[in-house]
Amino acid sequence: MYRTHTCGELRIADSGRSVTLAGWVQKVRKLGGMTFIDLRDRYGITQLVVEADAPASLVETASTLGREYVLQVEGEVVERASKNSKMPTGDIEIKLASINILNKADTPPFTIEEDTDGGEDIRARYRYLDLRRPPLQRALALRHRLAHELRNYLDSHGFMEIETPYLIKSTPEGARDFVVPSRMNPGTFYALPQSPQTFKQLLMVAGYDRYFQIVRCFRDEDLRADRQPEFTQIDCEMSFVEQEDVLNMFEGMMRTMFKNALGVDIPDPLPRMSWYDAMDRYGSDKPDVRFGMEIHEISSLVKGCGFGVFDSAAYVGAIAVPGSADYTRKQLDEITEWVKRPQVGAKGLVYVKLNSDGSIKSSVDKFYSPEQLKAVADSIGASAGDLLLILCGDKRKTQNQLGVLRVEMGGRLGLRDPKVFAPLWIVDFPLFEWSEEDGRFYAMHHPFTAPKPEHLDWYYSDKKEDLERVCANAYDFVLNGTELGGGSIRIHNADMQKRMFEILGIGKEEAEYKFGFIINAFKFGAPPHGGLAFGFDRVCALFGGQETIRDYIAFPKNNQGRDVMIDSPSQIDDIQLEELHIAISK
Ligand code: AMO
Repeated sequence: MYRTHTCGELRIADSGRSVTLAGWVQKVRKLGGMTFIDLRDRYGITQLVVEADAPASLVETASTLGREYVLQVEGEVVERASKNSKMPTGDIEIKLASINILNKADTPPFTIEEDTDGGEDIRARYRYLDLRRPPLQRALALRHRLAHELRNYLDSHGFMEIETPYLIKSTPEGARDFVVPSRMNPGTFYALPQSPQTFKQLLMVAGYDRYFQIVRCFRDEDLRADRQPEFTQIDCEMSFVEQEDVLNMFEGMMRTMFKNALGVDIPDPLPRMSWYDAMDRYGSDKPDVRFGMEIHEISSLVKGCGFGVFDSAAYVGAIAVPGSADYTRKQLDEITEWVKRPQVGAKGLVYVKLNSDGSIKSSVDKFYSPEQLKAVADSIGASAGDLLLILCGDKRKTQNQLGVLRVEMGGRLGLRDPKVFAPLWIVDFPLFEWSEEDGRFYAMHHPFTAPKPEHLDWYYSDKKEDLERVCANAYDFVLNGTELGGGSIRIHNADMQKRMFEILGIGKEEAEYKFGFIINAFKFGAPPHGGLAFGFDRVCALFGGQETIRDYIAFPKNNQGRDVMIDSPSQIDDIQLEELHIAISK
């Protein structure tokens, strides 16, 4: 037996026991002839001590130890003279009788402790060393716990876990595909699934009724803190359900996960907000509702007063930043520059300071009297001490910019506490998005999403404005400003599907080529069905109080989509290329 206990296990009640531990040397300290060693494994850290009067060979061995050496040690649990209340094992230490060096280690390139001195690149290159650090071990333990909880929940509700293939044909999620060349079928390619969308629908046609899978998905898109090229979904589908059934089932799943993994109670039922409300009030389809500072349209109060910028704008909107009227000129200039960055895209920013002495100072004093500005403030519920920030332009674009500004100001004011959880459903999405650039409609979700039954007249109308009004039977689960999941009730009727392709400008041949298999399957008795998928990495990160998902994935990619540890992607040799019938053009 390598060990009798782990490094996180022993307590004062174990005093006097002879134990054997195994683990990694985190730190060695010498103190007046004694040697102290912190021995680490994934369960914790235990202090070892080699006394000054220990046998010479033991003292000698202790003096050769370096960081990350792998040891097996024997000794007696004793009470510590100076206890460390911050460590679970901090009341005891092991008085060593022997040290067996199981493996030496090169000096690691960064410190492997709670906090590290290593930069992101070096830690990514030595990911297996970074993974020894307690924060990453906690992150992966949380991921494991959550996977366990959701499997339990779904199993107890009759869901079957079924695997679907990775080497498939393009899926309809709308990002770029990663493709894999086929050696046996020259000149052809598999696509890696952006999601198992079509397969889970086929499983419903096949009668499996309730399906789930914790499944890897692949999307070749620009990466961000909450996006990886390969990520994991909790993918689910149900038959004979309406939207309400799906929302209840998965609200229940999230409630159970919050309760069992974090001990947090979320509201029952969860709040719901329509997509239109979310856009108007928060400028985002994934509103962070941990704080107010809502967006208000003020067009009717400020247009027609001679200020050309507002007069010519389709929409003028404002947020009231609480307690920030004392912002200096310099701070206001900085925010103005901030909203003008391409990531936000505003042309400029108008401010109104509602000073606490009742006076009003704004960047548009030339055009508006204090009374007019006061009326604006009153209309949006702002009071003395607040700072109004105003943007104008195209309606949705401006709301979006105000939404980004709102989240930024919320962050600056410390209103985005990662320990506060504010989940909600966003419902009633438009079914289609019109692209001015391409002069055509795109599916907001994917082309299998059903329109709301009460909007079917508009769905079959030829008028653009009717089609723009059609709402989808679709829903997103949003937590703290992040879209954690989304799904829809699907079309299961061939006519309705045909109409969808027609609206999206997908011709008969293209539809047949891309989705023929599923259109065909629907001819053989497709049940009404619907489902959703949660981004599991995002669930883990937010539950852990983080916005970046990278630490919740054992071996993630960097922002360029590279795994710098294994050096991938990389070139392949000429023989492989030839076998795959591929010639590199540049
Ligand atoms: P959707 O495309 O909304 O829906 O994806 C579902 C959830 O997956 C997560 N997600 C990602 N997480 C990390 N990195 C990425 N690149 C990434 N892309 C998406 C998000 C998102 O909410 N088939 C449909 C679901 C359905 O209709 O049932 C789908 O994939 O958290």
